[in-house]
Amino acid sequence: ISLGLIFGGESQEHEVSLQSAKNIYDAIDKNKYDVKLIGVDKKGNWFLFNKNFLENENNPKNIKLKNTGIELGFSLKGKNSKLIDLRTYKEINIDIVFSIIHGTIGEDGALQGMLRILNIPFIGAGILGSAVGMDKEIMKRLLVNAGIKTSKYITIRKYELIDYNKLEETLGYPMFVKPANMGSSVGISKAKNKKELEESIEKAFKYDNKIIIEEFIKGREIECAILEKNGEVLASGIGEIVPNLDKHEFYSYEAKYIDENGANLEIPAKLEKKIVNKVQEIAKEVFKILECKDIARIDSFLCKNGDIYVNEINTLPGFTKISMYPKLWNKEGIAYSELIDILISNNLK
Ligand code: DAL
Ligand code: MG
Repeated sequence: ISLGLIFGGESQEHEVSLQSAKNIYDAIDKNKYDVKLIGVDKKGNWFLFNKNFLENENNPKNIKLKNTGIELGFSLKGKNSKLIDLRTYKEINIDIVFSIIHGTIGEDGALQGMLRILNIPFIGAGILGSAVGMDKEIMKRLLVNAGIKTSKYITIRKYELIDYNKLEETLGYPMFVKPANMGSSVGISKAKNKKELEESIEKAFKYDNKIIIEEFIKGREIECAILEKNGEVLASGIGEIVPNLDKHEFYSYEAKYIDENGANLEIPAKLEKKIVNKVQEIAKEVFKILECKDIARIDSFLCKNGDIYVNEINTLPGFTKISMYPKLWNKEGIAYSELIDILISNNLK
């Protein structure tokens, strides 16, 4: 079976993707799958890499995507559309794609649309699920519509006048300011006063023309992993993120990926069985409402009074060995390599 592992990408989460790709590649059974390494650089150029590209580097954090691969293009011939080697114009056969590109282009439906055109099956949500999962504003609209709790929010588009009074009256400080389409907390700030709010809004607009401003929910940060296996939607146990709030205002990009002591992952989170069940039910419901497939991680806040507020969904969650998603399944007895196997077999005809 020829498996296309696609990684890198144009988004701000390029580096995170390379780390996931290295871990996935190392864990894949090479006797079973012929892995084709497809890297997308920050400008959006596609390359086919030699296996050495990932094999020669032991530390996932050191992997850099240089333009040393074979340039790739596409030949569009209906159902026989193919990836092609642009040097020789030879077709490259791929039976299934595992794309671990996070963020825009990779996780927002664009890549999924391209794979549909090429007629190549792929792991994860399709065009619609990817698109609504990536856009935090649309995601929240659908959650509200389904009666699922999520923090109060106000949407602002770049061409709109900002009504600061309304923001302060409706949401109160502190507020979270987020680009609508982004991942790994890139572009997100916590604003504690008007000045910080203005700065946060300016920053968020650097990443997207649409931003959302949310009320602050005081609660524990809990995450649940969803996996489809043999046609059944399974919810994992619950993990908790305990950010180091002495050093970080919130679970920011730095706390996630730069600072080794930025946050602790507690698996499983110390929770009553009743709460665990409730979080799992909500996570499965969200997976369904947002049109997901195969895989997702649903992140929520658990308040003192037991209320659960869904913060967001990740349709292609971080997939390094130390990421929450694989760790949650490991705890359930599904090892990292088995997880990859399940995701692949879901999509083989
Ligand atoms: N968007 C990152 C990769 C995550 O949430 O896991
Ligand atoms: Mg995310």
